[in-house]
Formats: sequence, C-alpha cells, structure tokens
Amino acid sequence: MQLFEINGGNRLRGTVPISGAKNAALPIMAASILVDGETVLRNVPDLADVRQMQALLAKLGVRCERDAEGALHLTVEDEMNTHAEYDIVSKMRASVCVMGPLLAKRKRAQVAMPGGCAIGDRPIGLHIQGLQALGADFELTNGDVLLKAKKMRGSEIFLGGPFGSSVTATANVLMAATLAEGTTTIESAACEPEIVDLADYLIACGARIAGHGTPRVTIEGVATLTGTSHTVIPDRIEAGTFMIAGAITNGELMLEGARIDHLRAVVDRLRRIGVIVDRAEKGLVVSSARRIEPVDITTQPYPGFPTDLQAQAMALLSLADGNSCITEKIYPDRFLHVGELSRMGAQLRKEGPTVIIEGVKRLIGAPVMASDLRASAALILAGLIAKGTTRVQRAYHIDRGYEKIEEKLSAVGASIRRLEA
Ligand code: EPZ
Repeated sequence: MQLFEINGGNRLRGTVPISGAKNAALPIMAASILVDGETVLRNVPDLADVRQMQALLAKLGVRCERDAEGALHLTVEDEMNTHAEYDIVSKMRASVCVMGPLLAKRKRAQVAMPGGCAIGDRPIGLHIQGLQALGADFELTNGDVLLKAKKMRGSEIFLGGPFGSSVTATANVLMAATLAEGTTTIESAACEPEIVDLADYLIACGARIAGHGTPRVTIEGVATLTGTSHTVIPDRIEAGTFMIAGAITNGELMLEGARIDHLRAVVDRLRRIGVIVDRAEKGLVVSSARRIEPVDITTQPYPGFPTDLQAQAMALLSLADGNSCITEKIYPDRFLHVGELSRMGAQLRKEGPTVIIEGVKRLIGAPVMASDLRASAALILAGLIAKGTTRVQRAYHIDRGYEKIEEKLSAVGASIRRLEA
C-alpha cells in the first residue's frame, strides 16, 4: 500500500495547473449512453474514479478510449447490458449516474445501491423518486435498484431533500428527461457548476434545457441526441485545495485554469481569514504573508461553501489566531479527519455537526490515516506546514480525486514523496 511522506515548513511558490473537474467528467461520461455517434471529451483528469467509470461504461457497451492528446472518445456499441453491478458501484458512488441514461435510452436500469462510505450515508431515494415521476416502475432486487419504463413522460419534479438539493440526483433526472416525451420541470435542482457543465454538454448534443445553474430547470424532451465534442470545466475543489495549500504555507501560488466565479464562497472565507486572492488572466493568484484569522464556516449546497473543502479548511483554521467553528450541513458525519488532525496537535472539539477549532501555534508531523478523498487532502495540507515529517497512509484515497498531487506540490516547493509502505 502506498503512502505520502511530507516534510513540513516549505513556503509554496509558483504555478499549479488545475485539472478538469472529476465531478463534471463522471456524469458527462455517463451521459454518453444517451447519444448516437461519438462523444469527444477534453480536459478529463486521469484519476482512479475516471478509470472506474471507463470500466463500468465498457461493461455497459460503451467503447471509451483516450487518444494521444488525452481526449476521451466514447461511442455506444452495444445496448444489451443495463446492469451496473455492486463491485463497481460500491467503490465509486458516481456510478449511480448511469441510472438515468440507461433508463431513458434502454428503458431499463439495474444499479446496485451504493451503500454508505466514510463520509456518511449515501441514499439515492431522490434519484428513484425523480425517475419514477418520469414514468419508471421501481423495485428493489438483491440490493439493486431495478427501474423499467416503456415510455418516459415529462413531469413536474421536486428534488429537495433533507440536506438540500442532490447533485447526482439532479444529474440523473436531467439526463433522463432529455429523452422523455414532453416538458419536465425540476424544482430544487442542484446549482453546482458541474450540473451546468453536464447541461451544456447535453445541449450541444441537441437537448433542450433551460435554467441549469438555478434551482428550477426546464427540459423539453427530444427524440434523439447526437454525440459532440466538449471540454470539461476546471476542478473547483482541486483549485480550492491548492488555494488552502498556498495559504497554510504562507506562500504564493498561481492556479492556472481555476475559475474564481466557481469559488465565490471559498474566496469570501479565505479573504476573511487574511488570505489575498486575486483574479489573474489565466486563473487566480493566492498569497498569504500574515497570521490566520479565525472564521466560522458552514457548508451548504452551491453557491455556499462546499462540503468537499470542509476538511481542508479545518486544517488551515487549526493554525488561526483564535477559535473558529465549522458546521457541516451536507454530511453531518464527515469528520473522520478530526481525529487525525488532532494527532498532529490540532485542538478540535466536535459538538454534533459542528467542530470548534482552537487555533494553535504549530502542528507536529505524525503518521496519520486517510479515510476519504478530501480528508486525505486535509492531512497532506497539514503535513505541508507541520514541524517534522508526516506520513499519510492509504494514498489511494487521494488518487481517486487529485491528478498527480505530489508532482504538482513538489513543483512549487513542497517536500513530498510517494512511498510503498
Ligand atoms: C456529489 O455527491 C459529489 N460527488 C460529492 O463529492 C459532494 O460532496 C456532494 O455532491 C455534495 O456537494 C459527485 O458529484 C460525483 P448529494 P452526491 O446527492 O451527488 C443527501 C467528492 O469528494 N441525499 O448532493 O452523491 C445526501 O445524503 C464527492 O468529490 C439524500 O438525502 O451528493 C447528502 O446529505 C464526495 N437523498 C446530501 O443529500 C438522495 O437521494 C447531498 O448529497 C441523495 C442525496
């Protein structure tokens, strides 16, 4: 098993190329099931989760290959199989994004229930409710969701859940509605940039969608969709992670390709902390040369502060001049990084969905355990500034969502290397 070894204390300076967004690429790859002809996707990051989705699509009859320039070419060759099996879905929740496209195009979808994961329960009731509203019959069979529909009809669908909107439920219903007969309106749709990017791809394939990026999305069904070329948006969570890397090391980083308009809540909090964030011609520049001010952060659906940057923000605020509070409103149990940051000297107290962070003067390097993708990133960030050496076990968590992270960090001055444990 691989681990990252980091020697703390280096200020990061230089340029970091931001990769394409994992959480845009995955649903768009799934959407290729809907279209006739070839789809060419550019700026798709080379990640474990993307390779998982390629493997799943191959089992579902979609040929998916990268060309010499790194673009993904996807073409449906066989529509017989409609079963996304547990061994793949259990490893990657985004596999549920094939449900809507399979149902709409092949009139049947059998997808293993994803089950829970390190950040908490991952229910899919909203996905099922939305697809049933479009005319699907639903049954649970041997741990799989089985959906069938002779004909899909447009409908008025409310997709709000107990924790607000659902990103992949919005994606599934949006994709299915593109081929349903008539008009579909999704109320309380997710507004994430990844949903906008998915809609932009579908529109380029001939779908008729309006309101994407707002809580009310309207879709006029069409008979067929035709494959096209599309460039995936930059990854705002990777960009936010590197913004915090620049802040925590009091460095100065140029994040090439980052879109500041996708990061308004993050920029707001970082500026209150005392971090300088400026728009640049090809991205954004982040720098910090002062102490870290304490702030309160509450995670919200977009455009609020993203839950996927909660752990990384906690690492930064562990070193603030005073007490901060982080409240997790999307996944109330998403705190496995609290115990590990505490091993490095962070003073953290969990009170339900809130963690009170008492700022300390320094963190101390230690062997720590990664638990999920973003918690692992937080531990690496803490290791960048901690006194001494930090070893983050289970590097595979990071490889799911960050492309070449140790290369990107080393290129701007971090002392980090990947080791075989
Ligand atoms: C997406 O997950 C992202 N993954 C997650 O990123 C991200 O944390 C999450 O959105 C929230 O922003 C992808 O896009 C592939 P949700 P998703 O459905 O769609 C509840 C990462 O690190 N809910 O928006 O699965 C759910 O329990 C990953 O890249 C229901 O109650 O998340 C949660 O509390 C981690 N019923 C909230 O909604 C449902 O049917 C948001 O979940 C579905 C969700």
